[in-house]
Amino acid sequence: MIGVFDSGSGGITILEALHKRLPDQDFLYLGDHRNAPYGHRNNDQIVALTKDAVDILMKAGCSLVVLACNTAAAVALRTLQQEWLPVAWPENRILGVLVPMVEAMTGVPWSQEKPHAEAGEGRTIALFATRKTVESGAYVEEVRKRAPHLKLVQKACPGLVDAIEGGAGNRPIAGLIDGFVAEILEEIGTAPDAALLGCTHFPLVKSTFRSALPAATELYSQPEIVAASLADYLARHPEYIRSGTGTVRLLTTGRPADVIAAGAYLPARMNRFESLDSL
Ligand code: DGL
Repeated sequence: MIGVFDSGSGGITILEALHKRLPDQDFLYLGDHRNAPYGHRNNDQIVALTKDAVDILMKAGCSLVVLACNTAAAVALRTLQQEWLPVAWPENRILGVLVPMVEAMTGVPWSQEKPHAEAGEGRTIALFATRKTVESGAYVEEVRKRAPHLKLVQKACPGLVDAIEGGAGNRPIAGLIDGFVAEILEEIGTAPDAALLGCTHFPLVKSTFRSALPAATELYSQPEIVAASLADYLARHPEYIRSGTGTVRLLTTGRPADVIAAGAYLPARMNRFESLDSL
């Protein structure tokens, strides 16, 4: 069973793509709705909450957990991989969403961590993410190490996760997105070559981003890129492949009724949250 973790419901965008790409695998999703959003929390809290969530998924039988949450991946993944996992679950693995996206943006495999002068030269990419992901600088740092001539411009989008999780209507959400896009376009001064929605919630309102961005700007699809990367990882690490039947189970640390009620942007079949007690 493969575990998928997100601070809330946004990771369902990743889960759907994983399920489609790996239809024989069983998935267990955990949304930490009780403690979301993570984008406003401090680093220690994000590390502690992410650790607890991964521990729940591993205790439930997941030997591999994907941190679908960009904020958790940017802030907590390295610490958990280096300090906690080798002691708590030495046989298991945690993967994040940052690595595949950095590889996609730079065209440089993660393992080749050295400057590639030609990688992304002359390209500008706009990154929309939570304030915490932007402050962590993780995307910028990892891109710069591999593609020093690629310009990655970040835009924090405060309030957007809350609006999506809270089921705000199309109009307020479009208003927020139009504002963020206008600000980053003014900063860049021209249409960026590409844009990355670096928060799991944002693909739920992808069409609104698409309308707000210049037509010439390519939009990276994080869910598909992460799913392709996981399929590739499993091909190289068959020890994490389990024979499954393609079941998907959704758990929340919050109250399922509240989560479902707020799930206006979620695909209906992905809105069957159960409480942790049902494990
Ligand atoms: N799911 C998180 C991400 O991808 C954002 C939501 C939050 O702030 O909790 O960054």
